[in-house]
Parts: sequence; C-alpha cells; structure tokens
Amino acid sequence: MSDNGGTAVPLLAARDLAKAHGRTRALEGASVDLAAGEILAVTGASGSGKSTLLHCLAGIVRPDEGTVAYAGERLDELPEKRLSELRRTEFGVVFQFGQLIPELTAVDNVGLPLLLAGATRAEAQQRAGEWLERFGVRGQAGLRPGAMSGGQAQRVALARALVTGPRIVFADEPTGALDSLASEQVMTALIGTARESGTAVLLITHDAQVAAYADREIRLADGTVARAGVTA
Ligand SMILES: Nc1ncnc2c1ncn2[C@@H]1O[C@H](COP(=O)(O)OP(=O)(O)OP(=O)(O)O)[C@@H](O)[C@H]1O
Ligand SMILES: [Mg+2]
Repeated sequence: MSDNGGTAVPLLAARDLAKAHGRTRALEGASVDLAAGEILAVTGASGSGKSTLLHCLAGIVRPDEGTVAYAGERLDELPEKRLSELRRTEFGVVFQFGQLIPELTAVDNVGLPLLLAGATRAEAQQRAGEWLERFGVRGQAGLRPGAMSGGQAQRVALARALVTGPRIVFADEPTGALDSLASEQVMTALIGTARESGTAVLLITHDAQVAAYADREIRLADGTVARAGVTA
C-alpha cells in the first residue's frame, strides 16, 4: 500500500481543477495525487467528469483553473512542445473510445510510438508483437482496427500505451468492451506489467471488480472528488 497521506512526494499532483466544455462545467475543484507506482481507480457516474480529469492530468487538455504538477513541472503552464514530448516519453494513454489509427494494422499501431522514439522498423515490430502477445491479441497483429472486435481494439490500445515503458498509464475504461473473463485477463496483464516496472496507473472504470485491482479509489461526483478511500 502506498503512503499518500505521509511524506512521499506525489509523482503527479493536481489541485482545484476546473474545466468547462461550453456551458457544461465538467470539473469543479477536483484535486488528485498519484504516487510513483501507485494504481488509482477513478469511479463515478456517467458525466461526472472522469474523462475530462484524465485529459487534464495527462496534459491533453489544459484546465481553465487549477494546477497539475508532474515530477516538478507544471503541465498547466508548459508550452505545447514540451507537453507533447512528455506525453510521448513519460505517459501512455488509453482513450475511452479507442483512437487506434484506422489505416494501420495492430502491430503497426503498437509499434508507432517506438518508431517515433527512434527504433528501427524491425525492433518496433518485434517489441510490438511481444506486447500484443501479452494482451492476448497476437493473432490479430495483421488486422486493422475496423476488422477487430471492440475488446480486441482495447487490448491493442493498452499494448500501445505500455510499449514505450511510460511512468504513468492513463486508462479510460480499458475493459469497457470486455466480458468478465477477458476483463480479468486484461487487468492481470496491465497490473502485472505496472507492478513489474513500477508504472503508475490511473484507471477509470464503472466496474467494481476492476476497481478492486487498484491500491486506492476516488469517486467523482459533479466534477469534484466526492470520496477517497482504499479499495483492498
Ligand atoms: N467535448 C465536449 N463538449 C461538450 N461537453 C462535453 C465535452 N466533453 C465532455 N463534456 C461534458 O462534460 C461533462 C463531463 O464529461 P466527461 O466525459 O468528463 O464525463 P465521464 O465521467 O467521463 O462520463 P462517462 O462515464 O459517460 O464516460 C459531461 O456533462 C459531458 O457531457
Ligand atoms: Mg468518460
């Protein structure tokens, strides 16, 4: 169990985040800490602001108000160039609605972040294949997203988020399209990888069985943290 109330400096710390989409106030004063290697579940009703929170924490969306600090850098103030470098090197993101590149096969989707980081095509293919194997979708390596099931696409997206060895993985409903057996397999692979490599995971989920894999859970309601506690 990580010690968040004590002396540990969080790897990621967000304070009093506010974000509106037009007239909808998606976040209103949300504060979150994530320690290095910690697995944090974020739950809450549909529309409570979970995805918006994830996008702010991962430096994809700038909050209207509040601060996000990652390892001493203020993401809410960084220039876009440094933000995109951090997203590429330190963070892995699994979006709620997939966002694999439709023109690329599974193995090329997973290999792309490696190519962007300077790997050769052969290295990228090799490592991408290993990650597909880990998530049980090696057989789909040659398929494009349009030919995969929702659950297969989610596993490919997880492999893509982990392939570069990020310090934090942000996963928005990564088991949302999976049945309970597949969900258990995917969570075992995700959590096993994170524990081995000391990767922190921020995991959005509706599913209490998935949240139970986390060290800690926070619940959002109306754009703010309504409840924080330990899951285990
Ligand atoms: N791009 C957008 N434009 C307008 N409104 C948005 C946009 N994105 C989110 N919202 C609104 O902001 C609120 C929070 O949305 P968000 O996607 O963060 O919720 P969520 O907790 O992830 O929901 P779900 O569980 O359904 O995925 C909702 O009322 C939503 O309709
Ligand atoms: Mg969402």
